[in-house]
Amino acid sequence: MRSNHKIALITGASSGIGKALAENFAQDGYDVILAARSFSKMESQAAYLKERYNITATVIAADLESHEGAANLYKEIKNSGFMLSALANNAGYGTFGEFKDSTLQSELAMMQINMNTIVVLTKLFMPDLLATNGKIINTASTAAFQPGPYMAVYYATKAFVLSFSEAIAAELEGTGVTVTALCPGPTASGFQDKADMHASALVKNKNLPIAEEVAALGYRAMQRGQRVYIPGIVNWLMVQSLRFTPRSLVTKIVKAMSKPI
Ligand SMILES: NC(=O)c1ccc[n+]([C@@H]2O[C@H](COP(=O)([O-])OP(=O)(O)OC[C@H]3O[C@@H](n4cnc5c(N)ncnc54)[C@H](OP(=O)(O)O)[C@@H]3O)[C@@H](O)[C@H]2O)c1
Repeated sequence: MRSNHKIALITGASSGIGKALAENFAQDGYDVILAARSFSKMESQAAYLKERYNITATVIAADLESHEGAANLYKEIKNSGFMLSALANNAGYGTFGEFKDSTLQSELAMMQINMNTIVVLTKLFMPDLLATNGKIINTASTAAFQPGPYMAVYYATKAFVLSFSEAIAAELEGTGVTVTALCPGPTASGFQDKADMHASALVKNKNLPIAEEVAALGYRAMQRGQRVYIPGIVNWLMVQSLRFTPRSLVTKIVKAMSKPI
């Protein structure tokens, strides 16, 4: 790659919001590095982006729920001589069901990709981002703002992402690096299949926004350097209403809204 273009790493770029975010970066003239496990899906997408936007697209297969996945991805990028100007920490997923029934291993793997991977990549690429007045966009969720019965660990991981993003955004003020926590509500993507949550009242029979729409709005928020961005007025109002509602009541409402139907 090593063109004069700025370089963006997008994790979870094989589908959904990450794939769409990668197109936004490419459209804006960034060279992109796509990382996820589905190599061939990313290869097709890279070919399309190169052709359409005249940029360079590199594909790296990475398992980001393994302990060494994020550090290995960093090494591979650095061994190729790349210097990042943008980091999109987007790879992640949820699992649906009662905590008492899930396996410990599945919860820990989700915590690894949704939280640890973000910290590792942000830490390791920080020198690049400081040197390039870089941009960080972390995909959190509206789940970040309240507890989530039936997706207890997932909601807690997204609360972590939001808190971490806001805190380092404040620390980085004046350095030229901005941090944006993108907080989508339910969005049509591979997420519902992976979480096995089509029966949840949160998504069943709902007309969900598409990943491309959410990514484009999030990308613009990142360009503005907005710290927290919630796409969609209904999602935004829902989050604001939490400020005036007792937490115990919020938890009951989320439980009722999420339960399988
Ligand atoms: N869709 C929603 O309703 C919604 C709402 C709020 C927030 N979010 C968040 O948005 C982000 C993107 O999700 P999405 O909705 O776009 O779902 P998606 O279509 O399922 O995309 C998830 C991406 O993460 C990657 N990924 C999953 N496990 C991975 C692993 N072990 N190693 C590397 N990459 C992995 C997937 O790639 P591979 O499978 O190829 O590895 C895929 O590219 C997630 O952080 C999610 O929590 C989603």
